[in-house]
Amino acid sequence: MKRLAVIGIGRMGGRHARNILKGVVKNALLVAVCDTDKKVLDEFCAKYKVNGYTDRREMLDKEKPDGVIIATPHYSHVEIAKDCLANNVDFLVEKPVSVTVKEAQELKDLLDKKPDVVGAMMLNQRTNRMYKKAKELIESGKIGPVKRVNFIVTDWYRSQYYYNMGGWRASWSGEGGGTLINQCVHQLDIWQWLVGMPKQIYAVCKTVGRDITTENDVTAIMSYDGFEGVFTASTHELPGTNRLEIAGENGKIVIDRFKMKYYLNKYPEPVVNERATRDYGNKEDKKCKKYSYSYGLTRLIYDGINGQQARILNNFVEVISTRDKLRLIADIGDGIRGLSIINAINMSSWLNKCVDVPVDNDEYVKALEKKIAQEKKDKNA
Ligand SMILES: NC(=O)c1ccc[n+]([C@@H]2O[C@H](COP(=O)([O-])OP(=O)(O)OC[C@H]3O[C@@H](n4cnc5c(N)ncnc54)[C@H](O)[C@@H]3O)[C@@H](O)[C@H]2O)c1
Repeated sequence: MKRLAVIGIGRMGGRHARNILKGVVKNALLVAVCDTDKKVLDEFCAKYKVNGYTDRREMLDKEKPDGVIIATPHYSHVEIAKDCLANNVDFLVEKPVSVTVKEAQELKDLLDKKPDVVGAMMLNQRTNRMYKKAKELIESGKIGPVKRVNFIVTDWYRSQYYYNMGGWRASWSGEGGGTLINQCVHQLDIWQWLVGMPKQIYAVCKTVGRDITTENDVTAIMSYDGFEGVFTASTHELPGTNRLEIAGENGKIVIDRFKMKYYLNKYPEPVVNERATRDYGNKEDKKCKKYSYSYGLTRLIYDGINGQQARILNNFVEVISTRDKLRLIADIGDGIRGLSIINAINMSSWLNKCVDVPVDNDEYVKALEKKIAQEKKDKNA
Protein backbone atom coordinates (compact mmCIF):
# COMPACT_ATOMS: atom_id res chain seq x y z
CA MET A 1 0.00 0.00 0.00
CA LYS A 2 1.26 3.45 -0.89
CA ARG A 3 0.51 6.25 1.56
CA LEU A 4 -0.65 9.31 -0.38
CA ALA A 5 -1.33 12.94 0.52
CA VAL A 6 -3.14 15.61 -1.51
CA ILE A 7 -2.13 19.28 -1.40
CA GLY A 8 -4.98 21.59 -2.44
CA ILE A 9 -8.39 20.00 -1.91
CA GLY A 10 -10.55 22.31 -4.02
CA ARG A 11 -12.54 21.10 -7.01
CA MET A 12 -9.91 18.83 -8.50
CA GLY A 13 -7.78 17.94 -5.47
CA GLY A 14 -10.95 17.12 -3.54
CA ARG A 15 -11.91 14.71 -6.30
CA HIS A 16 -8.46 13.07 -6.25
CA ALA A 17 -8.68 12.67 -2.48
CA ARG A 18 -12.17 11.17 -2.68
CA ASN A 19 -11.07 8.79 -5.44
CA ILE A 20 -8.32 7.49 -3.17
CA LEU A 21 -10.73 7.18 -0.22
CA LYS A 22 -13.29 5.34 -2.40
CA GLY A 23 -10.69 2.75 -3.40
CA VAL A 24 -10.73 3.81 -7.06
CA VAL A 25 -6.94 4.07 -6.85
CA LYS A 26 -5.55 0.59 -6.32
CA ASN A 27 -2.98 -0.07 -3.56
CA ALA A 28 -3.27 3.43 -2.15
CA LEU A 29 -4.31 5.01 1.15
CA LEU A 30 -5.04 8.67 1.81
CA VAL A 31 -3.01 9.56 4.91
CA ALA A 32 -3.41 13.34 4.91
CA VAL A 33 -4.58 16.40 3.03
CA CYS A 34 -3.30 19.98 3.05
CA ASP A 35 -5.07 23.20 2.14
CA THR A 36 -4.25 26.76 3.08
CA ASP A 37 -7.97 27.50 3.38
CA LYS A 38 -8.74 26.36 6.94
CA LYS A 39 -12.51 26.24 6.33
CA VAL A 40 -12.14 23.99 3.27
CA LEU A 41 -9.66 21.83 5.17
CA ASP A 42 -11.76 21.46 8.33
CA GLU A 43 -14.88 20.56 6.37
CA PHE A 44 -13.05 17.91 4.36
CA CYS A 45 -11.29 16.42 7.38
CA ALA A 46 -14.46 16.31 9.47
CA LYS A 47 -16.38 14.62 6.67
CA TYR A 48 -13.75 12.07 5.64
CA LYS A 49 -11.87 11.58 8.96
CA VAL A 50 -8.47 12.24 7.52
CA ASN A 51 -5.51 14.19 8.97
CA GLY A 52 -5.37 17.78 7.76
CA TYR A 53 -2.69 20.46 7.60
CA THR A 54 -2.53 24.06 6.47
CA ASP A 55 1.27 23.85 6.32
CA ARG A 56 2.55 21.42 3.69
CA ARG A 57 6.04 21.24 5.17
CA GLU A 58 4.63 20.17 8.52
CA MET A 59 2.54 17.56 6.71
CA LEU A 60 5.51 16.20 4.78
CA ASP A 61 7.55 16.09 7.97
CA LYS A 62 4.95 14.42 10.20
CA GLU A 63 3.14 12.11 7.78
CA LYS A 64 6.07 11.11 5.58
CA PRO A 65 3.81 10.15 2.63
CA ASP A 66 5.10 7.93 -0.17
CA GLY A 67 3.53 10.17 -2.78
CA VAL A 68 1.97 13.63 -2.99
CA ILE A 69 -0.63 14.93 -5.43
CA ILE A 70 -0.35 18.67 -6.05
CA ALA A 71 -3.69 20.24 -7.01
CA THR A 72 -3.27 23.90 -6.08
CA PRO A 73 -3.48 26.94 -8.41
CA HIS A 74 -0.79 27.04 -11.11
CA TYR A 75 1.70 29.50 -9.64
CA SER A 76 2.30 27.30 -6.58
CA HIS A 77 2.93 23.98 -8.38
CA VAL A 78 6.71 24.24 -8.70
CA GLU A 79 7.42 25.53 -5.18
CA ILE A 80 5.35 22.67 -3.72
CA ALA A 81 7.01 20.11 -6.00
CA LYS A 82 10.41 21.43 -4.85
CA ASP A 83 9.41 20.76 -1.22
CA CYS A 84 8.50 17.18 -2.16
CA LEU A 85 11.86 16.81 -3.88
CA ALA A 86 13.68 18.19 -0.85
CA ASN A 87 11.99 15.42 1.18
CA ASN A 88 12.65 12.76 -1.51
CA VAL A 89 8.90 12.27 -1.90
CA ASP A 90 7.40 11.22 -5.25
CA PHE A 91 4.93 13.74 -6.62
CA LEU A 92 2.21 14.09 -9.24
CA VAL A 93 1.53 17.65 -10.42
CA GLU A 94 -1.77 18.83 -11.83
CA LYS A 95 -1.54 20.53 -15.21
CA PRO A 96 0.09 22.89 -16.07
CA VAL A 97 3.46 22.05 -14.52
CA SER A 98 4.02 25.79 -14.15
CA VAL A 99 3.09 29.04 -15.87
CA THR A 100 6.55 29.58 -17.36
CA VAL A 101 8.95 27.13 -18.98
CA LYS A 102 11.75 28.89 -17.10
CA GLU A 103 10.39 27.83 -13.71
CA ALA A 104 9.34 24.38 -14.92
CA GLN A 105 12.83 23.77 -16.28
CA GLU A 106 14.33 24.64 -12.87
CA LEU A 107 12.16 21.90 -11.37
CA LYS A 108 13.20 19.41 -14.03
CA ASP A 109 16.88 20.21 -13.50
CA LEU A 110 16.50 19.51 -9.78
CA LEU A 111 14.51 16.35 -10.47
CA ASP A 112 17.16 15.08 -12.87
CA LYS A 113 19.66 15.30 -10.02
CA LYS A 114 17.45 12.96 -7.98
CA PRO A 115 16.74 10.03 -10.29
CA ASP A 116 15.16 8.08 -7.44
CA VAL A 117 12.28 10.53 -7.12
CA VAL A 118 9.27 10.20 -9.43
CA GLY A 119 7.85 13.44 -10.87
CA ALA A 120 4.62 12.82 -12.76
CA MET A 121 2.15 15.03 -14.62
CA MET A 122 -1.64 14.95 -14.63
CA LEU A 123 -2.08 14.99 -18.40
CA ASN A 124 -5.15 12.80 -18.32
CA GLN A 125 -6.26 13.18 -21.93
CA ARG A 126 -3.45 10.79 -22.79
CA THR A 127 -5.61 8.02 -21.34
CA ASN A 128 -8.21 8.61 -24.10
CA ARG A 129 -7.83 5.50 -26.23
CA MET A 130 -8.70 7.34 -29.46
CA TYR A 131 -5.63 9.54 -29.03
CA LYS A 132 -3.61 6.41 -28.23
CA LYS A 133 -4.90 4.84 -31.45
CA ALA A 134 -3.96 7.98 -33.38
CA LYS A 135 -0.46 7.80 -31.92
CA GLU A 136 -0.16 4.16 -32.97
CA LEU A 137 -1.33 4.99 -36.52
CA ILE A 138 1.18 7.82 -36.82
CA GLU A 139 4.13 6.02 -35.23
CA SER A 140 3.59 2.83 -37.21
CA GLY A 141 3.73 4.90 -40.40
CA LYS A 142 0.24 3.74 -41.41
CA ILE A 143 -1.04 7.19 -42.28
CA GLY A 144 2.33 8.17 -43.70
CA PRO A 145 4.20 11.44 -43.22
CA VAL A 146 1.91 14.06 -41.66
CA LYS A 147 0.78 16.76 -44.12
CA ARG A 148 -1.75 18.74 -42.08
CA VAL A 149 -3.17 19.02 -38.55
CA ASN A 150 -6.32 20.86 -37.47
CA PHE A 151 -7.52 20.84 -33.88
CA ILE A 152 -10.70 22.75 -33.05
CA VAL A 153 -11.52 22.94 -29.36
CA THR A 154 -14.50 25.16 -28.67
CA ASP A 155 -16.47 22.92 -26.33
CA TRP A 156 -15.17 24.12 -22.94
CA TYR A 157 -17.83 26.82 -22.65
CA ARG A 158 -17.26 29.35 -19.86
CA SER A 159 -19.85 32.07 -19.10
CA GLN A 160 -19.33 35.42 -17.39
CA TYR A 161 -20.95 33.81 -14.33
CA TYR A 162 -18.01 31.40 -14.12
CA TYR A 163 -15.51 34.25 -14.32
CA ASN A 164 -17.48 36.35 -11.84
CA MET A 165 -17.02 33.62 -9.22
CA GLY A 166 -13.61 35.30 -8.88
CA GLY A 167 -10.61 33.60 -7.37
CA TRP A 168 -7.44 32.95 -9.29
CA ARG A 169 -8.91 32.00 -12.67
CA ALA A 170 -8.62 33.93 -15.96
CA SER A 171 -6.09 36.48 -14.72
CA TRP A 172 -2.40 36.93 -15.48
CA SER A 173 -1.59 37.36 -11.80
CA GLY A 174 -3.70 34.47 -10.47
CA GLU A 175 -3.59 31.87 -13.21
CA GLY A 176 -0.87 32.98 -15.62
CA GLY A 177 -3.27 33.05 -18.56
CA GLY A 178 -6.73 32.06 -19.72
CA THR A 179 -8.05 29.29 -21.89
CA LEU A 180 -4.57 28.31 -23.10
CA ILE A 181 -3.07 27.52 -19.70
CA ASN A 182 -6.31 26.22 -18.20
CA GLN A 183 -8.06 24.15 -20.86
CA CYS A 184 -5.83 23.96 -23.97
CA VAL A 185 -2.93 22.64 -21.94
CA HIS A 186 -4.57 19.22 -22.43
CA GLN A 187 -5.03 19.43 -26.19
CA LEU A 188 -1.64 21.03 -26.79
CA ASP A 189 -0.08 18.14 -24.90
CA ILE A 190 -1.95 15.71 -27.15
CA TRP A 191 -0.84 17.76 -30.16
CA GLN A 192 2.87 17.56 -29.32
CA TRP A 193 2.52 13.94 -28.16
CA LEU A 194 1.14 12.99 -31.60
CA VAL A 195 3.07 15.16 -34.04
CA GLY A 196 5.96 16.61 -32.02
CA MET A 197 7.03 20.17 -31.39
CA PRO A 198 6.49 22.92 -33.99
CA LYS A 199 9.46 24.93 -35.21
CA GLN A 200 7.57 28.23 -35.40
CA ILE A 201 4.23 29.65 -34.28
CA TYR A 202 2.13 32.59 -35.39
CA ALA A 203 -0.85 33.18 -33.13
CA VAL A 204 -3.68 35.59 -32.45
CA CYS A 205 -5.23 35.48 -28.97
CA LYS A 206 -8.27 37.56 -28.09
CA THR A 207 -10.81 38.19 -25.36
CA VAL A 208 -14.28 37.82 -26.85
CA GLY A 209 -17.55 38.68 -25.12
CA ARG A 210 -16.29 38.40 -21.54
CA ASP A 211 -15.06 40.89 -18.97
CA ILE A 212 -11.70 39.20 -18.26
CA THR A 213 -8.08 40.20 -18.78
CA THR A 214 -6.82 36.96 -20.35
CA GLU A 215 -7.56 35.27 -23.66
CA ASN A 216 -10.60 33.10 -24.33
CA ASP A 217 -10.09 32.82 -28.10
CA VAL A 218 -6.97 31.43 -29.77
CA THR A 219 -5.89 30.77 -33.34
CA ALA A 220 -2.36 29.45 -33.81
CA ILE A 221 -0.56 28.38 -36.96
CA MET A 222 2.13 25.88 -36.07
CA SER A 223 4.89 25.31 -38.62
CA TYR A 224 6.81 22.08 -39.02
CA ASP A 225 9.28 20.84 -41.58
CA GLY A 226 6.91 19.70 -44.32
CA PHE A 227 3.52 20.72 -42.95
CA GLU A 228 1.45 23.30 -41.09
CA GLY A 229 -1.10 22.83 -38.34
CA VAL A 230 -3.87 25.13 -37.15
CA PHE A 231 -5.03 25.13 -33.56
CA THR A 232 -8.31 26.91 -32.83
CA ALA A 233 -9.75 27.17 -29.34
CA SER A 234 -12.35 29.24 -27.58
CA THR A 235 -14.57 29.10 -24.52
CA HIS A 236 -17.36 31.41 -25.73
CA GLU A 237 -18.87 29.54 -28.67
CA LEU A 238 -22.16 27.62 -28.81
CA PRO A 239 -22.52 24.89 -29.84
CA GLY A 240 -18.95 23.80 -29.25
CA THR A 241 -16.78 21.55 -31.38
CA ASN A 242 -13.99 19.18 -30.44
CA ARG A 243 -12.40 17.84 -33.57
CA LEU A 244 -8.90 16.69 -34.37
CA GLU A 245 -7.99 15.99 -37.97
CA ILE A 246 -4.58 14.70 -38.98
CA ALA A 247 -3.95 14.09 -42.66
CA GLY A 248 -1.00 12.06 -43.85
CA GLU A 249 0.22 10.94 -47.27
CA ASN A 250 -1.42 7.55 -46.78
CA GLY A 251 -4.61 8.44 -44.96
CA LYS A 252 -6.42 10.55 -42.44
CA ILE A 253 -7.49 10.49 -38.79
CA VAL A 254 -10.63 12.30 -37.62
CA ILE A 255 -11.54 12.38 -33.94
CA ASP A 256 -14.85 13.99 -33.11
CA ARG A 257 -15.52 14.05 -29.34
CA PHE A 258 -16.19 10.37 -28.58
CA LYS A 259 -15.90 8.94 -32.10
CA MET A 260 -12.95 8.35 -34.34
CA LYS A 261 -12.71 7.51 -38.01
CA TYR A 262 -9.57 6.75 -39.90
CA TYR A 263 -8.99 6.25 -43.56
CA LEU A 264 -6.15 4.38 -45.21
CA ASN A 265 -5.53 5.07 -48.89
CA LYS A 266 -4.85 2.30 -51.37
CA TYR A 267 -1.84 4.26 -52.60
CA PRO A 268 0.02 7.17 -51.00
CA GLU A 269 -1.07 10.52 -52.44
CA PRO A 270 2.28 11.23 -54.19
CA VAL A 271 1.87 7.95 -56.11
CA VAL A 272 -1.72 8.87 -57.06
CA ASN A 273 -0.47 12.25 -58.23
CA GLU A 274 2.30 10.72 -60.31
CA ARG A 275 -0.07 8.31 -62.06
CA ALA A 276 -2.94 10.77 -62.55
CA THR A 277 -4.33 11.11 -66.05
CA ARG A 278 -7.45 13.15 -65.14
CA ASP A 279 -7.75 16.90 -64.94
CA TYR A 280 -10.10 17.18 -61.93
CA GLY A 281 -10.90 14.81 -59.06
CA ASN A 282 -9.72 11.28 -58.47
CA LYS A 283 -11.10 7.78 -57.99
CA GLU A 284 -8.88 7.00 -55.01
CA ASP A 285 -11.21 8.60 -52.42
CA LYS A 286 -13.66 5.73 -53.02
CA LYS A 287 -10.98 3.07 -52.75
CA CYS A 288 -9.62 4.04 -49.35
CA LYS A 289 -10.47 1.78 -46.42
CA LYS A 290 -12.57 3.37 -43.68
CA TYR A 291 -12.37 2.32 -40.03
CA SER A 292 -14.39 3.38 -37.00
CA TYR A 293 -13.19 3.49 -33.43
CA SER A 294 -14.62 5.06 -30.31
CA TYR A 295 -13.96 6.18 -26.76
CA GLY A 296 -15.61 2.93 -25.62
CA LEU A 297 -18.81 2.78 -23.57
CA THR A 298 -17.25 1.09 -20.52
CA ARG A 299 -14.46 3.64 -20.44
CA LEU A 300 -16.94 6.45 -20.93
CA ILE A 301 -18.95 5.29 -17.93
CA TYR A 302 -15.85 4.74 -15.76
CA ASP A 303 -14.41 8.14 -16.70
CA GLY A 304 -17.81 9.78 -16.26
CA ILE A 305 -17.94 8.55 -12.67
CA ASN A 306 -14.30 8.80 -11.58
CA GLY A 307 -12.78 11.22 -14.09
CA GLN A 308 -10.00 10.34 -16.52
CA GLN A 309 -7.72 11.59 -13.77
CA ALA A 310 -8.30 8.35 -11.83
CA ARG A 311 -6.36 6.51 -14.53
CA ILE A 312 -3.38 8.81 -14.03
CA LEU A 313 -3.58 8.35 -10.25
CA ASN A 314 -3.47 4.58 -10.75
CA ASN A 315 -0.51 4.92 -13.10
CA PHE A 316 1.30 7.10 -10.53
CA VAL A 317 0.82 4.52 -7.76
CA GLU A 318 1.91 1.73 -10.08
CA VAL A 319 5.09 3.63 -10.95
CA ILE A 320 5.98 4.59 -7.38
CA SER A 321 5.42 0.95 -6.39
CA THR A 322 7.47 -0.62 -9.21
CA ARG A 323 9.98 2.26 -9.49
CA ASP A 324 9.70 1.82 -13.26
CA LYS A 325 9.58 5.44 -14.45
CA LEU A 326 9.32 4.36 -18.07
CA ARG A 327 5.73 3.35 -17.33
CA LEU A 328 4.71 6.91 -16.46
CA ILE A 329 1.95 8.15 -18.73
CA ALA A 330 3.34 11.69 -18.51
CA ASP A 331 6.37 13.15 -16.76
CA ILE A 332 7.65 16.65 -16.08
CA GLY A 333 9.41 16.81 -19.46
CA ASP A 334 6.06 16.17 -21.15
CA GLY A 335 4.54 18.97 -19.09
CA ILE A 336 7.30 21.31 -20.24
CA ARG A 337 6.81 20.56 -23.95
CA GLY A 338 3.10 21.48 -23.87
CA LEU A 339 3.86 24.56 -21.78
CA SER A 340 6.53 25.59 -24.24
CA ILE A 341 3.88 25.72 -27.00
CA ILE A 342 1.61 27.79 -24.73
CA ASN A 343 4.38 30.27 -23.90
CA ALA A 344 5.17 30.58 -27.62
CA ILE A 345 1.51 31.13 -28.61
CA ASN A 346 1.20 33.91 -26.02
CA MET A 347 4.49 35.50 -27.05
CA SER A 348 3.57 35.46 -30.74
CA SER A 349 0.23 37.07 -30.01
CA TRP A 350 1.75 39.72 -27.73
CA LEU A 351 4.44 40.61 -30.28
CA ASN A 352 2.09 40.16 -33.26
CA LYS A 353 4.73 38.19 -35.13
CA CYS A 354 5.87 34.67 -35.86
CA VAL A 355 8.17 33.26 -33.13
CA ASP A 356 10.64 30.38 -33.00
CA VAL A 357 9.83 27.57 -30.57
CA PRO A 358 10.97 27.56 -27.84
CA VAL A 359 10.84 31.27 -27.09
CA ASP A 360 13.51 32.80 -24.89
CA ASN A 361 12.56 31.86 -21.31
CA ASP A 362 13.77 35.11 -19.72
CA GLU A 363 12.00 37.22 -22.35
CA TYR A 364 8.80 35.33 -21.65
CA VAL A 365 9.04 35.93 -17.90
CA LYS A 366 9.60 39.65 -18.54
CA ALA A 367 6.65 39.85 -20.93
CA LEU A 368 4.39 38.04 -18.45
CA GLU A 369 5.47 40.38 -15.65
CA LYS A 370 4.44 43.31 -17.87
CA LYS A 371 1.01 41.73 -18.39
CA ILE A 372 0.59 41.29 -14.64
CA ALA A 373 1.65 44.91 -13.97
CA GLN A 374 -0.79 46.20 -16.61
CA GLU A 375 -3.59 44.07 -15.18
CA LYS A 376 -2.94 45.52 -11.71
CA LYS A 377 -2.86 49.08 -13.10
CA ASP A 378 -6.14 48.61 -15.00
CA LYS A 379 -7.80 47.13 -11.92
CA ASN A 380 -6.80 50.13 -9.79
CA ALA A 381 -7.71 52.70 -12.46
N1 LIG B 1 -6.68 17.55 -14.88
C1 LIG B 1 -7.79 18.23 -15.08
O1 LIG B 1 -8.57 17.92 -15.96
C2 LIG B 1 -8.08 19.41 -14.20
C3 LIG B 1 -9.38 19.93 -14.08
C4 LIG B 1 -9.59 21.03 -13.23
C5 LIG B 1 -8.52 21.59 -12.56
N2 LIG B 1 -7.26 21.08 -12.74
C6 LIG B 1 -6.09 21.67 -12.08
O2 LIG B 1 -6.16 21.45 -10.68
C7 LIG B 1 -5.54 22.53 -10.01
C8 LIG B 1 -6.53 23.11 -8.99
O3 LIG B 1 -7.68 23.54 -9.68
P1 LIG B 1 -9.10 23.58 -8.95
O4 LIG B 1 -10.10 23.84 -10.00
O5 LIG B 1 -9.24 22.40 -8.06
O6 LIG B 1 -8.90 24.89 -8.05
P2 LIG B 1 -9.65 25.28 -6.71
O7 LIG B 1 -9.48 26.75 -6.56
O8 LIG B 1 -11.03 24.71 -6.70
O9 LIG B 1 -8.81 24.52 -5.58
C9 LIG B 1 -7.51 24.87 -5.23
C10 LIG B 1 -7.33 24.62 -3.75
O10 LIG B 1 -5.94 24.82 -3.43
C11 LIG B 1 -5.87 25.52 -2.18
N3 LIG B 1 -4.56 26.17 -2.14
C12 LIG B 1 -4.16 27.29 -2.79
N4 LIG B 1 -2.84 27.51 -2.57
C13 LIG B 1 -2.42 26.50 -1.77
C14 LIG B 1 -1.17 26.16 -1.20
N5 LIG B 1 -0.07 26.89 -1.43
N6 LIG B 1 -1.09 25.06 -0.42
C15 LIG B 1 -2.19 24.30 -0.18
N7 LIG B 1 -3.41 24.57 -0.69
C16 LIG B 1 -3.52 25.65 -1.48
C17 LIG B 1 -7.05 26.47 -2.21
O11 LIG B 1 -7.40 26.88 -0.92
C18 LIG B 1 -8.12 25.60 -2.87
O12 LIG B 1 -8.88 24.88 -1.92
C19 LIG B 1 -5.11 23.51 -11.08
O13 LIG B 1 -3.78 23.26 -11.41
C20 LIG B 1 -5.98 23.17 -12.26
O14 LIG B 1 -5.41 23.49 -13.50
C21 LIG B 1 -7.05 20.01 -13.52
